[in-house]
Amino acid sequence: MAVRARTPLLLAALAGAVALLLPGAVEARVLLSLDDFGAVGDGIANDTQVRTPCREPSRAAPARRRSLPLTLYLFLHQAFVDAWKAACATGGTIYLNVPAGKSYQIWPVTLAGPCRGEIKLMISGNIIAPEDPEEWSDGDQGRWLHFWGVGDLSLSGSGIVDGRGQQWWAGSCEDENCTTYRPYDVAPMALHFEDCRDVSVKGITVQNSQRQHLVFTRCHDVEANYLRVTSPEYSHGTVGVLVVSSTDVHIKHDLFSVGGDCVSIVGNSSDIRLRAISCGPGLGISIGGLGEKQSNHMVHKIKMDTMFISNTKNGVSIKTYENGCGFACKVKFAHIMMRNVANPIVIDQHCYSASNSNRGTPCGTPNGSAVAVEKIKYIDITGTSATERAVTFACSNAMPCKHLYLDGVNLRTAGGGSTSAYCYQAFGKHVGDVLPESCLGKEKEDFVQLQAPTAGTRQGDTEDEEDDDW
Ligand SMILES: *[C@@H]1O[C@H](CO)[C@@H](O)[C@H](O)[C@H]1NC(C)=O
Ligand SMILES: *[C@@H]1O[C@H](CO)[C@@H](O)[C@H](O)[C@H]1NC(C)=O
Ligand SMILES: *[C@@H]1O[C@H](CO)[C@@H](O)[C@H](O)[C@H]1NC(C)=O
Ligand SMILES: *[C@@H]1O[C@H](CO)[C@@H](O)[C@H](O)[C@H]1NC(C)=O
Repeated sequence: MAVRARTPLLLAALAGAVALLLPGAVEARVLLSLDDFGAVGDGIANDTQVRTPCREPSRAAPARRRSLPLTLYLFLHQAFVDAWKAACATGGTIYLNVPAGKSYQIWPVTLAGPCRGEIKLMISGNIIAPEDPEEWSDGDQGRWLHFWGVGDLSLSGSGIVDGRGQQWWAGSCEDENCTTYRPYDVAPMALHFEDCRDVSVKGITVQNSQRQHLVFTRCHDVEANYLRVTSPEYSHGTVGVLVVSSTDVHIKHDLFSVGGDCVSIVGNSSDIRLRAISCGPGLGISIGGLGEKQSNHMVHKIKMDTMFISNTKNGVSIKTYENGCGFACKVKFAHIMMRNVANPIVIDQHCYSASNSNRGTPCGTPNGSAVAVEKIKYIDITGTSATERAVTFACSNAMPCKHLYLDGVNLRTAGGGSTSAYCYQAFGKHVGDVLPESCLGKEKEDFVQLQAPTAGTRQGDTEDEEDDDW
């Protein structure tokens, strides 16, 4: 049942009626537009929440189910926050539209769940952030559009989410040319999904984030597909997608062109899959830094394939802090084309040894620990390295890297010259000719069985390959 509201009043009546007559009915479908809630969309007005003088504050409290029609009527005079509340309080499938051809300026907000139904936020127009960092109060640190505790949520459309982060980036520079900078920890994440389940973000453009463009923290069953994520190369630390302690995350058919990592995976994350990604410029694709401040990060079952990485600092990297613990294990990088990448393949277990955060008692063994790096596969990685050293496996005495596997690696300099590989405490094997020539230490026999080719492995084209095909 589709209900298209022509007027706000009709909308209220219909939405209310639907909610009351069909409690929890899956067919209920309600269409809401931001404009019905008093949003202006001129890029200047505050469309976060519109204040109405005639509204009694006590009535603004989130409605209990019985008072839904009245509540919806009150919501008509308000904007984003209240459109969300209305959508969240209604069962069934709710389509909330951000109309095309307009720009809605939204201050930092948390849009919290759980919601009664499934929310489909259709972003046809633009959502923009205030430009001045002064607009963020202390309580808003790290926050712009924050979705929290929501299940069954999708964001889609051809619209743009623009963090307008220029002043944040400038603020992080320590000299006029920004040759050195400090990470701006308090800068907002543009779209942050926290403790969410069944979230899909599709088709939209996310640009000029103050820091990370999309962050998934403790989320499960996530899709981030057909996205265009861009910020200028000089916007230090503007990560494309940051995955923190999340599982079953699919990141596919996306374009990332940012100042920081295109995609970064940290925390206790598993079953993460990247496919058909274009990345660059920026810092490349990164697992880590893992184990910061003696913490325990366990990352496993990560697969990426069909990726184009160009003009980045790193290609695919795994970086860990000294004295952290946990592991990065069962990671497969396959079918990747590099162009002019400074460090195409990197494992670095000392990556942040210059920082203070790795001092102190190790969280693993008492005499110095590291995040274990094991079972990492590099298959069909080709293209050009901007430096002579195309492969770096800098592992640690405390925790040598084990079971590294190279097959079909062919990286040359831009002029077609040969490249070199560096290994320290790195063990594993390679198959056939690899360029640069492998420098991996020989593994003990117990690893041999892992190298046996799996019969009938379908390379690349199935979505659900067996878990053990790392
Ligand atoms: C915009 O609205 C939000 C929500 O009501 C409020 O927190 C924020 O202070 C407002 N900003 C300005 C500049 O009025
Ligand atoms: C910044 O760049 C300008 C022009 O290239 C140069 O003259 C100046 O010395 C640089 N300043 C710093 C602090 O590096
Ligand atoms: C990962 O899980 C372990 C064990 O449950 C926990 O001790 C650790 O704090 C978690 N790490 C993070 C980054 O959440
Ligand atoms: C840690 O160091 C102490 C003193 O050097 C040594 O006795 C002990 O065996 C070491 N423990 C481990 C787990 O290596």
